[in-house]
Amino acid sequence: MTAGRFITFEGGEGCGKSTQIRLLAERLRAAGKEVLLTREPGGTALAEKIRSLVREESDDPPNSRAETLLFIASRAQVVENVIRPALASGAWVLCDRFADSTFAYQGYGRGLDLEELKRINSFTTGGLEPDKTILLNVSPEVSAKRMRAREAATNTDADRMEKAGDGFHARLRQGFLELAATEPERFAVIQADGSVEEVEETVWNSIQPML
Ligand code: TMP
Repeated sequence: MTAGRFITFEGGEGCGKSTQIRLLAERLRAAGKEVLLTREPGGTALAEKIRSLVREESDDPPNSRAETLLFIASRAQVVENVIRPALASGAWVLCDRFADSTFAYQGYGRGLDLEELKRINSFTTGGLEPDKTILLNVSPEVSAKRMRAREAATNTDADRMEKAGDGFHARLRQGFLELAATEPERFAVIQADGSVEEVEETVWNSIQPML
C-alpha cells in the first residue's frame, strides 16, 4: 500500500499526453495536492541518459531485447529513487508513460512475448502498479499531424521510435486498447482528437473520484 496516488499517462506518438499531464498537475496543485511530475524513459540523471540512447539514431541501434532492457533500466531507477519515495511521502505522482508503454511498444509493436515482458517488468517495479492510467487515444491522422507540427515548432526531426513505421504504430495503438480492455477499472480511455481544453476536462472528470 502506498500513501500517495500514482497516475500514469499513456498513448501513441502525438497523443498530447505531455500537455495533458502538465495541465492535470496544475489542477491538482490548485486543489492543494502535493504533485510530483516525472516521465519515462527519464526522471533521473541516469534515466535521462538512457532516454537519449533509446531515441537517437545510431549506426548500432539497440535490437528489440536491448531496447526493452534499456527502458527497463530507466524504470528501475526512477521507481526506486523517485516514485516510491514520493508516494511514501503522500504525494500524487504523475508519470508520463510507464509499464504499459513497454507492453504496447515492445510487446505489440516489436512482437516480444507479453508474458515475458510482464515478468521482467514485475522484477523491475517490485510490483508497483498505477492507481489510474489515462490512455489518450488519437487517430493516426491526428497523431501524424501533431508530430509534424512539433517537428516544425522545435526544428527537430522525428526520433528513432517515431520513425518505426505505420505498421508498428498501428499495432501499438491497438495494443494499448487491448491492454485497457483487460483492466477497465485502472484505465480511463479518453478520445484525444479534440481540443486541449476538451481533453483536459475529460481527464479531470476521470480523476475526480480519486480526490
Ligand atoms: P515520449 O514519452 O516523449 O513519447 O518518448 C518516449 C519514447 O519511448 C516513445 O516513442 C515511446 C517509447 N517507449 C517504449 O518504446 N517503451 C517504454 O517502455 C517506454 C517507457 C517508452
